Amino acid sequence: MDKLVIRGGNPLLGTIRVSGAKNAALPAMAAALLTDEPVILENIPQVRDIETTRRLLAAMGAEVELGYGRAQHRTTICARTLSSPEASYELVKQMRASSLVLGPLVARCGRARVSLPGGCAIGARPIDLHIKGLEQLGAKITQDHGYVEATADRLKGGEIVFERITVTGTEDLLMAATLADGETVLRNCAREPEVADLADLLNKMGAQIEGAGTSTIRVRGVSKLHGAKHRIIPDRIEAGTFIIAGAMTGGDLNIVGCDPSHLAALLAKLHQVGVKTAQSADAVRVMGDAPFKAADITTEEYPGFPTDMQAQYMALATQAEGVSIITENIFENRFMHVLELVRMGANIKVEGRRALVRGKASLSAAAVQASDLRASASLVLAALVADGETIIDRVYHIDRGYEHIEEKLKSVGAQIRRIGEILPKKAAAPAARP
Ligand code: EPU
Repeated sequence: MDKLVIRGGNPLLGTIRVSGAKNAALPAMAAALLTDEPVILENIPQVRDIETTRRLLAAMGAEVELGYGRAQHRTTICARTLSSPEASYELVKQMRASSLVLGPLVARCGRARVSLPGGCAIGARPIDLHIKGLEQLGAKITQDHGYVEATADRLKGGEIVFERITVTGTEDLLMAATLADGETVLRNCAREPEVADLADLLNKMGAQIEGAGTSTIRVRGVSKLHGAKHRIIPDRIEAGTFIIAGAMTGGDLNIVGCDPSHLAALLAKLHQVGVKTAQSADAVRVMGDAPFKAADITTEEYPGFPTDMQAQYMALATQAEGVSIITENIFENRFMHVLELVRMGANIKVEGRRALVRGKASLSAAAVQASDLRASASLVLAALVADGETIIDRVYHIDRGYEHIEEKLKSVGAQIRRIGEILPKKAAAPAARP
């Protein structure tokens, strides 16, 4: 298992380029299941969840060609024949977003069998709203042996009001509705840029969707979708993570290839903290200029402060003067990073859904463990300013969603390296019997 070794203290200086958004790429790959023609996606990040999705689609019979580097990170998916419209437990347990194939499969093949995801480090995360929505579009749902099976001759348009806002739930039903008979109205939808990006792709494929990016989406169902070419939007969470890295290290960092309009809630909060930023159409420059002032955040659905930036913001809050109250509203157990940050010298108390961070703390390097994707990012940030050499274990979590993070950070001056598992020394061979 790989580890990251980080020696803190260097300001990050220079330019860092943002990759394509993992959370836009995953539904876009699932959308390719809706047509028998090739779908070409550019700016697909080279992260582990994409490889998991490749295996998921390939297991159904789709052809997936992942190309990186000069090929603009271009991926071509052709789901001409889908011999087995199923998502196995083996793959779903590795990546909950696998449930994104449920809607497209039942819409295209009339049948889908998808493993129910089990528990998750950050919260229960059920998919009941995906299932309920499909039922409202006329799918027959059965559940047995840990799998959900959905069948329908052809889905029928209808009205779906989400009881609570769900990002992948909105995406799953949006995809299903594109091939339904008649009009579907989705209400109380997630307004994340990743939902709008998916709708852009689907419209290029011939779907008729209006209102994506707002809370009401209208879809006029069509009988067939065709191939398309689409460029995935930049990853706003990766961009936000680097902005905080630049600020915390007292650096001067230009984060390019991002969309600052997707970062409004974060940038407004950083301004309150005292972080100086300047924006252009596709870049944010951050000039770390301590001291920082404590400021409270509450995570909310987009356009509110993203839960996916909560852990990274907490790392910054350890370096701000005063008490920051961090309230996590989306997931019930997303404070796994707290105890590790405390081991590095942070002063944080958790009371239910709130964490009280008292700063400024001088952080000291320690051996720590990553527990989930964004928690790992917060440990990297803390390590960048800690005194000494931090070793972060279980970095496979970070590899799920950050493309070559150590190379990117190294290129702007961080002292960071990846090490593989250190195997115990071979035991000495027993002495030969006389
Ligand atoms: N929920 C339900 N029932 C459902 C669906 C969701 O109760 O059927 C609840 C969840 O348990 C949660 C809340 O609704 O408490 C919101 O969950 P949502 O469905 O919006 O989350 P998601 O779609 O599973 C996506 C991102 C997450 C991100 C959340 C919230 C992808 C692939 N994943 O998850 O990203 O945290 O939205 O913004 O888009 C990450 O990238 O690290 C990550 C976890």
